[in-house]
Amino acid sequence: MGKKNKILASIISLALIGTLIAGCGSNTTSSPSNNTSKNEPVTITYSTGKDSTPATQKLVEAFEKKYPNIKVKVQELPNSTDDQHNSYVTALSAGDSSIDVLAMDIIWTPEFAAANWLLPLDDKFTKEMRDKFLPGPVEAVTYNGHVWAVPRFTDAGVLYYRKDIINTPPKTWDELIQMAKENVGKGGTKYGIVFQGNQYEGLVCDALELIGSNGGNVLDGNKVVIDTPQAIGGLQYLVDLVKIAPPGVTTYQEEDARNVFQQGEAIFMRNWPYAWSLLNSDDSPVKGKVGIAPIPRGKDGKVGTPVLGGWNLGINKYSKHPEEAWKFIEFVTSEEGQKITALEGGNLPTIKSLYQDKEVLAKNPYWADFYDVFITAKPRPVSPFYPQMSDSMQINFHKALTGEISPEQAVKNVAKDLDEIIKNNGK
Ligand code: GLC
Repeated sequence: MGKKNKILASIISLALIGTLIAGCGSNTTSSPSNNTSKNEPVTITYSTGKDSTPATQKLVEAFEKKYPNIKVKVQELPNSTDDQHNSYVTALSAGDSSIDVLAMDIIWTPEFAAANWLLPLDDKFTKEMRDKFLPGPVEAVTYNGHVWAVPRFTDAGVLYYRKDIINTPPKTWDELIQMAKENVGKGGTKYGIVFQGNQYEGLVCDALELIGSNGGNVLDGNKVVIDTPQAIGGLQYLVDLVKIAPPGVTTYQEEDARNVFQQGEAIFMRNWPYAWSLLNSDDSPVKGKVGIAPIPRGKDGKVGTPVLGGWNLGINKYSKHPEEAWKFIEFVTSEEGQKITALEGGNLPTIKSLYQDKEVLAKNPYWADFYDVFITAKPRPVSPFYPQMSDSMQINFHKALTGEISPEQAVKNVAKDLDEIIKNNGK
């Protein structure tokens, strides 16, 4: 989506937040009633981003088998979270009732809840159910005292490396750069690293990981704290990584990075856990050659800090089939559903017990060791105005990445924009 459309979508979203925020949390009675007789087949629409794994299809098949009276139409949205966000903003701000279940990025809950676009799920996703889930993702679906979605899977940035070339994965970004320079060319590689360098949300995740791993931060409560030597140093790593990456990296999203790494062309890759099962699929040129490690730390940081990602399922407030929509969400986020997602999609479960499941661990052996890393992943700023904050970070981090401005200038610009967003909106 073009920048203009994005800005327009943000403006519409903001205007709505402004007018609807007063009604936040009070929409329990405003959903359209569901008069469908239990015996009539109902078709619900599940809107979700393009899935490069078989997980979505398997989930729908398993659900329809269990509930023969409910059919699920999958409405596939583009890959990038920003494009998905903007298409929801356009549809929901127009009161579109054609979507029943929405797959939502973890960063959207405050915005969508404040805009009054979702049905609150407090009575459905009960405390007893929530207690079985990881606390971080549950916190992320809670806003203004209500629960707005159910966590479908969680995400945390990880480092993939070619274990046929590198024996011990790097603990610091400096070591990584050094190893990349020393080993490039081995095992058919052409590049040191691939990551998400396009101007979009994925870049914000990568940059915040580098900033956090170098001891920097964006917000401390409501205070903007990004203009520090640690954050500048973190962003400098991003600039340094471009030098050991393919020239096209400044346009890469997750799947572009995975494709290059999967073709055997890069030694390292920053990506999310979903890539593991695809990299090890039978037709993958790097099958069996890939190791996985926690995000390294920078020279001014104590520990590598993966960014917290993840996807949640919510019900469109305008849905004509909220009960059937809930049945689908309940199934997909149940232990049975999340096991399908873990086995077929390689996504991290949000139900704690699945980290001890033998089949799940056989398919994703590193999950047991990484559990502690996953649960300490760091959230991005939590705010209904996050899309605006992200816009500023996307623009300025990308300019730093392409050398248009220095990392110092980039953090100064972001600090100024974020200060203004907070000042104008009170949060
Ligand atoms: C992954 C994460 C999501 C993040 C996105 C960025 O899908 O789960 O939280 O915003 O990547 O591209």
